[in-house]
Amino acid sequence: MSTDLKTLIAEWSGQAVLVRYDNESGTWIFIAIHDGTLGRPSGGTRMKVYERPEDGLRDAMRLAEGMTYKWASLGLPIGGGKAVLAIPAPMTGDERTGLLHRYGEILERLCGAFATGEDLGTTPKDMATVGEKTRYVHGVNTDGSAVDPGPFTARGVFCGMRACLRRVFDSADFAERTVLIQGLGDVGEPLAKQVHEAGARLLVSDIDPARSKDFAARLGVEVVEPGDVYSVACDIFAPCAIGGILNDETISQLQCRIVAGSANNQLEEDVDADRLHSRDILYAPDYVVNGGGALALGLISRSVRDEETLLQRMEAIGSLIEEILQDAAERLESPFYSAQRRAREILETAASFR
Ligand code: PHE
Repeated sequence: MSTDLKTLIAEWSGQAVLVRYDNESGTWIFIAIHDGTLGRPSGGTRMKVYERPEDGLRDAMRLAEGMTYKWASLGLPIGGGKAVLAIPAPMTGDERTGLLHRYGEILERLCGAFATGEDLGTTPKDMATVGEKTRYVHGVNTDGSAVDPGPFTARGVFCGMRACLRRVFDSADFAERTVLIQGLGDVGEPLAKQVHEAGARLLVSDIDPARSKDFAARLGVEVVEPGDVYSVACDIFAPCAIGGILNDETISQLQCRIVAGSANNQLEEDVDADRLHSRDILYAPDYVVNGGGALALGLISRSVRDEETLLQRMEAIGSLIEEILQDAAERLESPFYSAQRRAREILETAASFR
C-alpha cells in the first residue's frame, strides 16, 4: 500500500490533521483530530519508527477514529484524537527529551485543541516530560510524575474477559481456562498477572524472546513462540501488542473461543469481525474492552485520584461488554456491530443537541 500523504488527508473522515516536521530530530509529528462532537479531542501519543511517514499518519488517523468510539462507548464528554511521533530511529536521552519538550510546546500553543497521554512507545515518564511544557497531558500528578494507564487498561480487559467467559461457558471462572497473551508490555504484563492469579492456565508470547522467557520463568507459565501465536489452542486469545493482527490469514488459524485484548485496531478490516463471527469466535470490541486506561485518565482529570477507587471503577468495562454481548446475541451479529451502533447512537444524540 503506498497511499501518499495528500490522498490520506483528502480521503479522511475526521476533522483535521496537524502536521509538523521536527527538524532537529527528523521526526514527523502527526496530530489527528477525528471528532469533537462529545468534547475536546483527546488520545494517546504513539512513538514509533515507521517505514514511511505516510504509515505514521495512517496509524494516527485510524487510532483517532478508535478514540472517538472509545470515549463515546464510555459515555465521557471527550472527543477522539491521536498523535503519532514518527521517529527516524529509536530515541533516548537528551534527544528524546528535546523532542518531547518541543511536542509539549506545540500542544500548549494549541490551547487544548488536543490533550494526550501514554500510548505504545511512550512511557509515563515521557508524559511527565511533555507535561513540563503543557497543561494538556492527562494524569500528571502535582509532583510532576504521570499516572500509568496500563494497569487500569489491564483491569478493564480482565473484567471484559469475565463477561466473555460468562457468555461462552456460563461461568466467569478462570480455573478451567487457558488464556494466551500476545505482548508483555505495559498492559499485557499486569493482565497476565491477574489472569494467572485468577487460576487460569497462562500462555505468554512476545517478540522479545528474553522478555517472555523471563516473565514465564518468574510465574512458572508457558511461552508460545511468536510464529505460533495464532494457531495455539486456547480459550481466550488476548492481543496486547500491535494492531491489524486479526485478518483473513490469522483468523483461519485461530483455535480459541474468545478474542479479548488491549491492542487498538485489532481488526485489519471491518469484515474481519464477520470472519470471527462465522467461525463462532466471540470478539470483544477492542475500543470497549481496552477502554480502562481512557476511563481512568478521564476520571483522574475529574479529580478521582484514589487508586483502589479507580480500579473498582474498571468494573464498568465488564458491564459494557456484557451489554454489548447481550445485544449482539439477540441480533445474531458480531459484537463489533453492536458496539459500533451503540457508539454512533451516542454521537448522533449528542450532535442533535448542539
Ligand atoms: N493510549 C491509551 C488508549 O488508547 C490510553 C489513553 C487514553 C491515553 C486516553 C490518552 C488518552 O486507551
